[in-house]
Amino acid sequence: MATTQPLIAISHIGKRFGGVHALTDVSLEIDQGEVHAIVGENGAGKSTLMNILSGVIAAYDGQLLLRGQLARFTGPRDAEQAGVGIVHQELNLVEPLSAAANLFLGRERRTLLGWLDDRGMERAATTILETLECRIDPRQPVGELRVGDQQLVEIGKALVQEAEILILDEPTSALTAAESERLFRVMQQLQTRGVTILYISHKMEEVFRLADRISILRDGALIRTLPRRETTPREVTRLMVGRDLETAAPTERPAPGRTLLEVCGLSLPWAGHARAWRLHDISFTLRQGEVLGVAGLMGAGRTELLECLFGASAEPPRGAIRLNGAPAVFRHPAAARAAGLALVTEDRKRLGLFDQMTVGQNLTLCQLHAAAAWGIVQSRRESDMAETLIASLGIKTAGRDAPITSLSGGNQQKCVIGRWLLTRPQVLLLDDPTRGVDVGAKAELYRLIDQLCRDGLGVLVTSSELPELLTLCDRILVLCEGRLTGEFTRAEATEHGLMEAATMCKPAGTAG
Ligand SMILES: Nc1ncnc2c1ncn2[C@@H]1O[C@H](COP(=O)(O)OP(=O)(O)OP(=O)(O)O)[C@@H](O)[C@H]1O
Ligand SMILES: [Mg+2]
Repeated sequence: MATTQPLIAISHIGKRFGGVHALTDVSLEIDQGEVHAIVGENGAGKSTLMNILSGVIAAYDGQLLLRGQLARFTGPRDAEQAGVGIVHQELNLVEPLSAAANLFLGRERRTLLGWLDDRGMERAATTILETLECRIDPRQPVGELRVGDQQLVEIGKALVQEAEILILDEPTSALTAAESERLFRVMQQLQTRGVTILYISHKMEEVFRLADRISILRDGALIRTLPRRETTPREVTRLMVGRDLETAAPTERPAPGRTLLEVCGLSLPWAGHARAWRLHDISFTLRQGEVLGVAGLMGAGRTELLECLFGASAEPPRGAIRLNGAPAVFRHPAAARAAGLALVTEDRKRLGLFDQMTVGQNLTLCQLHAAAAWGIVQSRRESDMAETLIASLGIKTAGRDAPITSLSGGNQQKCVIGRWLLTRPQVLLLDDPTRGVDVGAKAELYRLIDQLCRDGLGVLVTSSELPELLTLCDRILVLCEGRLTGEFTRAEATEHGLMEAATMCKPAGTAG
């Protein structure tokens, strides 16, 4: 037997973006067939390292050896050819194209006559989607799919490519528990075929379940690589953050104040669909100083509910919505915003941020009237507001003039939340706000939400992570297939109870 040589040897790799040291002298070996997790806080350099491995970044210091050979990829195609596939953190799909077309983008199949083999690709797409247990029509434009399904299509792209090394950069951040399980089964299949997997996640349970070894990055440096069996989530978190995280239970909040939002018999029709209602007969209230959670599986209607309230649904909902006692069915988000609502969406790339703008501009976007005097934006005030937010949310950036695209995923998410906080809303609607946000920043956000409630805001929050809702919320509503199937107070709620209601799919009984 030859001496085992690592499949990938990363040797003294460094990468700078202007003044930012994204990676400093990172050396790391990946073995054939292992699942190797890379963890670290937002901005630690995880995606940058993966972009180097996958040829997205071609200019860097140090060396990359693949099977003992020096590899210098000049682009993603180059890396693909060498067997490296990557599913990026941010969705990378061509929205008007079908799922099948996206799967085969750049490696289209052709008939003997050289025509595009649409039928063949559709059939192959069906098989791949089946492997992923993804029940969508391969002909459907991916722009119409929800984030969870889109992410599965992304993973399908790497399967088409038959990658030997598969990089998954936070693949489960938009998936529900059931969808994640599905992905883990796929990973297992791939592993038995000898595929090596590099796995990035902020979710410790996943990392400890899946990984053979765990590498920890902090501020661009490799801190340690540990076999999973020889470490604990607590140790890994401490190495990531550089200190122990206090997990103080939130102190009792004052009793909620007056009713802010009243929703009565809210329904949203779903034309031409087997399930005639996206949302059906939903009633609840939200009071000042209250955090109300909305749990449910993907497709349960969580996002639709928030969109309805914010005047962002495709068609107006039926039923009654009242804000401070006044009718509040909004036709347009601008009207909702003017009335004191704010919505932080789950898909920050599509609905949240403006790629061409700076961090500061993105933060103050909704606030220009506050910074404007006589119709002229006072850039001084605008920059003050931006600076304050960057500091208070701990946004990791070279400065407010840095392009938003230069921020790591989690830090971009903080910008979206920060922007809406500046509008001083009465009701804050948060759709999966900590998706892709690291443990430290999550704790900060929880504190922030708690503080906002004490200041008298009402918060309606969805999350695909039940423990998050249990930590944050005073009450939790559960949706299943567009219907309300449960309501729990903080004292009553358990993960098990919530799951049960989320899969019950019958309207809640009369009993409380
Ligand atoms: N194209 C770029 N231009 C400028 N700076 C960048 C660029 N890409 C990354 N950076 C910076 O490099 C650092 C590392 O970013 P990276 O995206 O690798 O972090 P990450 O560990 O993937 O974080 P997250 O968990 O938030 O995804 C960050 O400070 C980021 O702002
Ligand atoms: Mg990243």
